[in-house]
Amino acid sequence: MEFAGRTALVTGGSSGIGLEIALGLAAGGARVLLPVRDRARGDGALVRIRERLPQAGVELLDLDLARLETVHGLATALANRPIDLLVLNAGVVTVGSPGRQLTPDGFELNFQTNYLGHAALVRDLLPRLRQHGSRLVVQCSLAAAHVQLDWDDLQGERSFHAFRAYAASKLALGLFGMEVARRSSASGWGVSVQLCHPGVTPGSSIAPAIRAMLPGELVHWASQHLGNSPAEAARTALAAATTDADDVRLFAPAGHLGLTGRPVARAPFPSLCDPDAAAHLWQVTATLLG
Ligand SMILES: NC(=O)c1ccc[n+]([C@@H]2O[C@H](COP(=O)([O-])OP(=O)(O)OC[C@H]3O[C@@H](n4cnc5c(N)ncnc54)[C@H](OP(=O)(O)O)[C@@H]3O)[C@@H](O)[C@H]2O)c1
Repeated sequence: MEFAGRTALVTGGSSGIGLEIALGLAAGGARVLLPVRDRARGDGALVRIRERLPQAGVELLDLDLARLETVHGLATALANRPIDLLVLNAGVVTVGSPGRQLTPDGFELNFQTNYLGHAALVRDLLPRLRQHGSRLVVQCSLAAAHVQLDWDDLQGERSFHAFRAYAASKLALGLFGMEVARRSSASGWGVSVQLCHPGVTPGSSIAPAIRAMLPGELVHWASQHLGNSPAEAARTALAAATTDADDVRLFAPAGHLGLTGRPVARAPFPSLCDPDAAAHLWQVTATLLG
């Protein structure tokens, strides 16, 4: 995979699938920007990357998607830096945690971390993405195929279910990517968009509250026997980063139910192919972000 001379920004690169995406990009020669919310965990990721790729060009920056001021701060810190590839990979699942949680900005936690913070980042970086004809890679989830957005209760204020909140946030992220693609095509922005999902990756640290409830041996067994390893799961994002496809594809594991296996390009889920919903979400997002 050839990324020599290109600059890639990967969110959620401090662990799991994002760390492996960063490794894959660095192995291909990219300069990789890793904005993290926790510098100690970021330093740990740097050590792991340099153990495998001593010459890797990787740089830590600061980003907490649950705090919009850090999103804007990152965009400011990146002023005048080229970004050829932006991978929206960071995510949380609050399954197993008690109840509905709010970010310091007052949004529901899954909604802001997985969706709104990323939308704000794209919005802030859009002039530079256009300038550089960049690729946007959007990390979705199988969960996004089986949910609808509730326009009257987007953040689960009336009725909250953690997995539904997660699934809706990933659907929103995918729809946002589709709308960027549509606007780019209609207005000649030159920004290309591709979607991906990693299948199932029990070995990553997502949903820490669930993992904390399970015996360590069970987590280890699941990560050995069910689903993709983080390195295997990263391949769909890497394929989305490098494809020459003109239209938006969803890169997904080829195996049974899309849970495991090598990446293949598929049509996006029907839930993502709703231009009215994507356009409406764009407007709602603009209002929320002010
Ligand atoms: N694992 C699966 O089975 C699965 C399935 C479908 C989709 N996905 C998607 O794959 C992506 C990566 O997940 P993963 O499995 O690799 O999980 P992970 O190991 O928990 O990684 C999540 C990453 O997101 C970062 N993150 C979380 N909250 C953040 C915030 N507020 N601001 C900035 N970064 C934040 C984490 O940083 P910290 O290190 O600071 O926690 C970590 O680097 C997610 O988008 C997830 O929805 C995963």
